[in-house]
Amino acid sequence: MKIISLMAFMLLSFQLSAAGDAETGKKIAYTCSGCHGIPFYQNTYPNYHVPRLGGQNEAYIIAALKAYRSGERSHPTMQAQAGSLSDQDMADIAAFFANFNKEKES
Ligand code: HEC
Repeated sequence: MKIISLMAFMLLSFQLSAAGDAETGKKIAYTCSGCHGIPFYQNTYPNYHVPRLGGQNEAYIIAALKAYRSGERSHPTMQAQAGSLSDQDMADIAAFFANFNKEKES
């Protein structure tokens, strides 16, 4: 029984460390906020459409960033943005944006 609970604990802590950390994401996402319309943040480029990221699905954000980084999804600005991000950065950023609206409501 002890062995089983130890294994369950190890599995749990592995999943926790693999998941994105919203606090770290908030710091990395500082530059993103200038373009992506987040309430109370100044949108620097109001002349063209920039998708809203707050409340967006976490897995969707990661998939989109990886597609920009690999060049599969083409957009010069976002390719430049995503090009310097690691997988962990992307997970952290996604955790931050996905929970943004929830944070505001509570
Ligand atoms: C200079 C402005 C600018 C900055 C800075 C910027 N983005 Fe973007 N982002 C855009 C634009 C414009 C698009 C839409 C591109 C397209 O049509 O593919 C976009 C698209 C995206 C998408 C896809 C959204 C969707 O709904 O498909 C994600 C995810 C994203 N950006 C994340 C980020 C992250 C994370 C950062 C910071 C590391 C960032 N962006 C910084 C302008 C910006």
